[in-house]
Amino acid sequence: MTEDDVNLEARLEEQDTFEPPESFVEQANVTDEGIYEEFEENWPECWEQAADLLSWDQEYDTVLEDGNAPFYEWFTGGTLNASYNCLDRHVEDGAEDRTAIEWEGEPGETRTYTYGELLEEVEAFAATLRDLGVEEDDVVTLYMPMVPELPIAMLACARIGAPHSVVFAGFSADALATRMNSASSEYLVTADGYYRRGDALDHISKTNEGLEDVDHETTTIVVDRLGDDLDHTLEDGQHDYEELVDDNRGESVEPVTRDAEDMLFLMYTSGTTGQPKGVKHTTAGYLAYTAWTSQTVLDLEPGDTYWCSADIGWITGHSYIIYGPLALGTTTVMYEGTPDYPDKDRFWEIAEKNEVDVFYTAPTAIRAFMKWGKEYPERHDLSSLRLLGTVGEPINPRAWKWYYKHIGGEECPIVDTWWQTETGGHMITTLPGVNAMKPGSAGPALPGVDARIVDAQGEEVEAGEAGYLTVQKPWPGMLRTLYQNDDRFIDEYWREYSDPDADEWVYFPEDGAKIDEDDYITVLGRVDDVLNVSGHRLGTMEIESAIVGVEGVAEAAVVGGDHEVKGEAVYAYVITEDGYEGDEELSEKIVEGVVDAIGPIAKPEEVVFTPELPKTRSGKIMRRLLEDIASGNELGNTSTLRNPEVVDDIAEQVQGD
Ligand code: WT7
Repeated sequence: MTEDDVNLEARLEEQDTFEPPESFVEQANVTDEGIYEEFEENWPECWEQAADLLSWDQEYDTVLEDGNAPFYEWFTGGTLNASYNCLDRHVEDGAEDRTAIEWEGEPGETRTYTYGELLEEVEAFAATLRDLGVEEDDVVTLYMPMVPELPIAMLACARIGAPHSVVFAGFSADALATRMNSASSEYLVTADGYYRRGDALDHISKTNEGLEDVDHETTTIVVDRLGDDLDHTLEDGQHDYEELVDDNRGESVEPVTRDAEDMLFLMYTSGTTGQPKGVKHTTAGYLAYTAWTSQTVLDLEPGDTYWCSADIGWITGHSYIIYGPLALGTTTVMYEGTPDYPDKDRFWEIAEKNEVDVFYTAPTAIRAFMKWGKEYPERHDLSSLRLLGTVGEPINPRAWKWYYKHIGGEECPIVDTWWQTETGGHMITTLPGVNAMKPGSAGPALPGVDARIVDAQGEEVEAGEAGYLTVQKPWPGMLRTLYQNDDRFIDEYWREYSDPDADEWVYFPEDGAKIDEDDYITVLGRVDDVLNVSGHRLGTMEIESAIVGVEGVAEAAVVGGDHEVKGEAVYAYVITEDGYEGDEELSEKIVEGVVDAIGPIAKPEEVVFTPELPKTRSGKIMRRLLEDIASGNELGNTSTLRNPEVVDDIAEQVQGD
């Protein structure tokens, strides 16, 4: 390092507030801090601003319908189609030749779809779905890797009013079956496989295995991604994507008019029980909210090239690779593979080649980049970037500053966006052209979003004190319910802090947080039994039930331990059944069991066999203690345990190696 570098490092290290760069503010979509007051004074009508970003078949008559809270409805009376909003209207406005999707496969091939071409593909696939019998309101499951056919299928579903349920391709066969059964989904679009770190990965075998456990008849469409790299045969009820679509190219399919509150899609996410939750998002509120946040937070405009490196199998990909950016007419980049193939500069190569203006990724990725070193971004010209974003977990100030300096060249603001599958879009973040940034703190709640930090009694806490994050007013992008489970919807999100008798409803996202004197919120992480591994949400119960399903396991407790890159890693503490040995073989079977039930993302970092789990006198497992052991923390007082002697044993096993 040169002396300048050292000085810069030192200055960055000390600095805890960063003003948005002048060059950014000059061109930003939002620069007036009056927007906060304006939204507060004019709530809920302020959200007309979001609705105005959409093209309606019929104007709505009510902004917010709260007569049946917490089953709120937005923009009722209005009708529209999401695929029309993401495609046709741009083509009609003369943007037919503007690039909609810039796709890159891991082996290096690229495919570009203009808005005109994307519309054609979507219509052809919409016609195909109809031919196969898909009707309005049928749930179509999409179990697909990052290939262009995934957004095409999503938009085709939206076009004919069939809600999609995307299942992350990294999830297991079991996970696919559970979700298809839960949604009674009779249609599946999948692929033969995809490329990962140079290998052709088989996806179709996993699909077929999953289909065996689906309890009803299904029709499957298979995208041939791997060509000669993987032979696959189509079974009964399975069709080749390209063959079907070829017959329908040139077909025009009118977008179906949907009510504002009609379901656009379902997305399953992990909760505290073993059963994943089917989060229901609707057409108008969700689309308006993702478009509005894409404009105000991600600062997108039609001419921009924008890249979000998430997988479309998660909500981030739905909201901020597809729906938000395409509703605004932006060019969105999609990449199939990993950031370190063939080398650790792959992302920066893609960013340079496409002259990416806005880049959005997860802290876990940034920590990996940081570990690999600045020489990788330094190989590339990243001067096209004007804004950076992060999502998925808290970002530590060191990683924030590295991102700011080595990717943004100290010229790009960073938006640290807090939100969830359930919120549909951003909730807490700075507005990049308005607010100063404080590394580690997401920022203030967005205009119109009423986020407050409360104690266990629901009273607001003082600045600086840790408490529970709540949202005290509804917002257009919110989930409407859990699919076919209104009771669980209320139990999970509205029970804790609401006062139903007074008709006062408070949304509880199950995160801990604190707020400072400038109203900046620092999110501290989940307060329920949900882990955040590499920005992916996993329920400890789901993993535990997979583990106790393995022969030889009597009891299991799963907790998260600190991990340098992943943020949290899965630690499994396991008691064997009598007659079984806690050996390497059983350990491998446990890992396998978890991969089969959920997927490789849930793989335990360590399986620790123990004759007993630390329990309180009332018999509750002391998870906090197990977490401390996994994270290598100092262990606090164990004297309240029924069996304090097991703690040293376990700690020695984990921390000894
Ligand atoms: C949970 C939601 C939102 C899309 C990706 C994850 C955590 C998310 C942040 C952030 C701190 C964050 C929370 C939240 N989280 N963003 N910027 N700072 N924590 O969606 O799978 O629904 O997970 O991710 O704990 O509750 P998800």
